[in-house]
Amino acid sequence: MAIVKPVRKAVLPAAGFGTRFLPVTKAIPKELLPIVDVPVIQINVEECVASGIRDLILITSRGKDALIDYFDRGAELEELLERKGKRADLEMIRRLTDLAHISAIRQAEARGLGHAVLCARGLVVDEPFAVLLGDDLVEADPPAIRQLLDVYAKYGKGVVALWEVPSGQEHLYGIVDGESVGGGVFRLHNLVEKPEPGKAPSRLSIVGRYVLPPEIFPILANTKPGQGGEIQLTDALATLCASDGLYGVRLRGERFDAGDRTGYVLAVLRYALRRSDIGAAVRAGAEKLLRKT
Ligand code: G1P
Repeated sequence: MAIVKPVRKAVLPAAGFGTRFLPVTKAIPKELLPIVDVPVIQINVEECVASGIRDLILITSRGKDALIDYFDRGAELEELLERKGKRADLEMIRRLTDLAHISAIRQAEARGLGHAVLCARGLVVDEPFAVLLGDDLVEADPPAIRQLLDVYAKYGKGVVALWEVPSGQEHLYGIVDGESVGGGVFRLHNLVEKPEPGKAPSRLSIVGRYVLPPEIFPILANTKPGQGGEIQLTDALATLCASDGLYGVRLRGERFDAGDRTGYVLAVLRYALRRSDIGAAVRAGAEKLLRKT
């Protein structure tokens, strides 16, 4: 095991317009879209907490203050629930605010994921940190970010999460080139953001989970706009990979691309089916619907 600094902070980029989910994202941040009754962002926050990270930095933008309100104390609502004797609801709301320490920074311009992560530099300073993208929901035990932290503890280098995508879907993701070192772990040679069809070095895509050393910040500051005219985190990671080394780990669990309409519906269905309160009723209802469709 390498001697590594503990990872205490996580960055949650949530500044995007959510154009893949219009029209609803015209008024509601996509990170607040509910998976049954829990917003996507809360599932990310709970993943961090379950992985031992409680210091969280949200990167937001204009029009997305509802995200900050969500984790803030709602004194009036608490009073109302108290008065009505709704203890269970009151505890649920209070637990939410006590879950983690959350700070927020605004990304003033939409300049890409790499730029969004760079916005957290002043709060992360010189520590290693995790990054979680809300579009990727991973149902896993141990949680996805914990799986990366374990690889980071072993090798002492940055780690990205990997998932094999079906042939033909490589252009939708960052794709890596690497060699297996066993146990689902890869030493990476290169990373390419959304390669053109036929040019992907493998079918191993980057899932939105990263553990990064603070050395990524000066690299990001010098990274020129890439794919889509945006500052890409993947491009900075390719530079880090060449200078410092970088690992990838294939996630164990179930991955949902909740930023995609079909993936979102499947995520809602999966979470609903696994709930003890509504799971059985949803299963019966869904089976009935499927027979009719
Ligand atoms: C981002 C990253 C990409 C990664 C993907 C995972 O892309 O840039 O490398 O594969 O997340 O969800 P986006 O989906 O934001 O376009």
